[in-house]
Amino acid sequence: MKELTLGLVGVGRIGVMHARNIAALEGTLPDVKVKLRLTDVAADHAKRVAADLGAEFVPSVEELLATGVDGLVIAAGTAVHPELIMAGVDAGIPVFCEKPVAVNVAESLPVLDYVEAHNGVVQIGHQRRFDAGYLEAKRAFGAGELGWIHSLRAVTCDMTPPPVSFLATSGGLFCDCSVHDFDILRWLTGREIVEVYAKGSNNGDPEIGAVGDVDTALAVVTFDDGTVATVSASRYNGAGHDVRLEIQGSQSSLLVGLDEQLALRSAEAGVPFPSGAPHQTFIERFEQAYQDEMAAFADLILGNRTNPCPPQDAVAASRVADAAQESLETGLPVTVKL
Ligand SMILES: NC(=O)c1ccc[n+]([C@@H]2O[C@H](COP(=O)([O-])OP(=O)(O)OC[C@H]3O[C@@H](n4cnc5c(N)ncnc54)[C@H](O)[C@@H]3O)[C@@H](O)[C@H]2O)c1
Repeated sequence: MKELTLGLVGVGRIGVMHARNIAALEGTLPDVKVKLRLTDVAADHAKRVAADLGAEFVPSVEELLATGVDGLVIAAGTAVHPELIMAGVDAGIPVFCEKPVAVNVAESLPVLDYVEAHNGVVQIGHQRRFDAGYLEAKRAFGAGELGWIHSLRAVTCDMTPPPVSFLATSGGLFCDCSVHDFDILRWLTGREIVEVYAKGSNNGDPEIGAVGDVDTALAVVTFDDGTVATVSASRYNGAGHDVRLEIQGSQSSLLVGLDEQLALRSAEAGVPFPSGAPHQTFIERFEQAYQDEMAAFADLILGNRTNPCPPQDAVAASRVADAAQESLETGLPVTVKL
């Protein structure tokens, strides 16, 4: 029986879910005993999470790393990702870090250099790469079943915004939210996005505008073969958490997210579809994908697989997000700096 001890930094919205998924890993990995040690600057909250899951609370990241964990999972806010990734690499252990690497490309590049110079192993949390619908879309695309692609439309809408305190350090809607779509468009097509034209609006809480963000945005992106796609996002989708990717080709079309829980209703008479309760949050929508992503990180540590999302890929998606942000601010199309 092998022992695998994971350290987790940050048990906020997504960190608590990762903590649960790590605690449940033992049931999915054959012959592996999994231990979890966690820390958060909100110590009382973290102690409660640790107690609930039978994990060990450790007062600081330094002490966590000093205990000799086999891998570090980073689910603290984006602003502290660079220092935490580098601390994990310094400790000589594989690192899983939630997306994105940093709030922008300029702050990501020194991290990439550091990881490369120290032969670090870093998996970034783009969980859609593990989602059954996106995997099927990639398979169908790769097999040529759709013919040549004339249009792609990606949608990511939250029901309600995260706290403004989170938004203030998130890097903005493109960096925080649409970066998932930029990543999946590159991953699925195997192509680079070379130009972005973006618009945004703020019709919700004025505090979102006050911290320099938008609550809704649309980007038109162009791939290196001239194919165009749209990427839209909002923090105010009352119908439910809505994540979709529509791919239309010369032979056939498909839609990721078209199931009974789709957060849309038909305007046509007598159409009961979709009949299920829509997802409320990303945690519900990608429940299985997050579990598979963490299992993949455990397998990466154990040497059983290659890295499913290296930081170079994540930074390539951030380049598109940065270009979208620049386009939003200037009102002009922006060439992506490859
Ligand atoms: N993959 C996804 O679908 C997805 C979804 C949501 C969030 N995220 C990413 O996850 C990260 C966290 O997001 P969240 O919504 O959970 O944020 P959050 O604010 O709810 O939680 C962050 C937690 O980290 C703690 N923290 C901050 N700095 C710390 C430090 N230096 N040391 C220890 N603890 C620290 C905070 O106290 C808080 O509990 C962000 O980078 C975000 O982009 C990814």
